[in-house]
Amino acid sequence: MSLSFRRLGEEDLPEIQTWEHLCFPSEEWTDKMIQTHLEFHVAFAIGDQTTQCYALVCETPWEIEIFRIATLPNYRKLGLAKQLLEKLFSEFPKKEFFLEVKESNLPAIKLYESVGFMELERRKNYYPDGSTAVLMKRNPIE
Ligand SMILES: CC(C)(COP(=O)(O)OP(=O)(O)OC[C@H]1O[C@@H](n2cnc3c(N)ncnc32)[C@H](O)[C@@H]1OP(=O)(O)O)[C@@H](O)C(=O)NCCC(=O)NCCS
Repeated sequence: MSLSFRRLGEEDLPEIQTWEHLCFPSEEWTDKMIQTHLEFHVAFAIGDQTTQCYALVCETPWEIEIFRIATLPNYRKLGLAKQLLEKLFSEFPKKEFFLEVKESNLPAIKLYESVGFMELERRKNYYPDGSTAVLMKRNPIE
């Protein structure tokens, strides 16, 4: 399968809304949140004919924070999120990567560990539903 990697822009807003709805039911970002994200931050997608996996990312001069990464439900467990993360590491080779994930989200934690993220700490009652966040970091290779 030949995958294309691309940076998303404001023209992709309607599609991102659809993906959010499919991938984060009841926790999807609002239109306004996505729009603001695209205005100030960056987003990337990977897929063959169409997008199958996407990430909403915040870039600062020092680091990258991954706010969201998701694979559309029909394309999971095919290595797509792992490939998208590897593309992001190539895009920002000198930067540290950070993220937070619910401690109950074991598929995501396994994914992050599989590409070199390590747990930094846990924060109780971090999310609106009271669940604990795991903070993770990946160092640049160089
Ligand atoms: C988490 C998520 C992004 C993984 O996407 P994916 O494309 O299916 O992941 P990959 O196929 O690239 O998997 C890479 C590795 O992650 C781990 N992994 C992925 N899904 C897993 C699952 N359901 N159970 C256990 N481990 C899993 C495995 O280690 C896997 O490597 P392996 O297949 O060699 O064992 C996807 O399940 C998803 O979109 N979930 C809903 C949104 C979400 O929770 N996003 C993360 C928080 S923002």
